[in-house]
Amino acid sequence: MKNKLTVCCGTTCYLAVGNRIDRLEQLIKQEFGDKVEVVPSGCLGQCSVVNKECDFAPPFVKFNGEIISNATNDNIIKELKKRL
Ligand code: FES
Repeated sequence: MKNKLTVCCGTTCYLAVGNRIDRLEQLIKQEFGDKVEVVPSGCLGQCSVVNKECDFAPPFVKFNGEIISNATNDNIIKELKKRL
């Protein structure tokens, strides 16, 4: 089964890091080959529950249904390495 990385392209997440999905797709391909499918998405609904005190902040992605916060490209690669 292919793993699915859903990348929020909603306004809050977009403003947190700018347009990064093209670069992210390249990085994912380099690190994981075809094991991970990158899928853009509208708002994942997490920006309304942001809590900076517990470090739950945008940008957000979802990996196989699990939300990952602070999802900079470096953090995404690090988190996926733990899960794969
Ligand atoms: S804009 Fe990304 S979770 Fe809402």
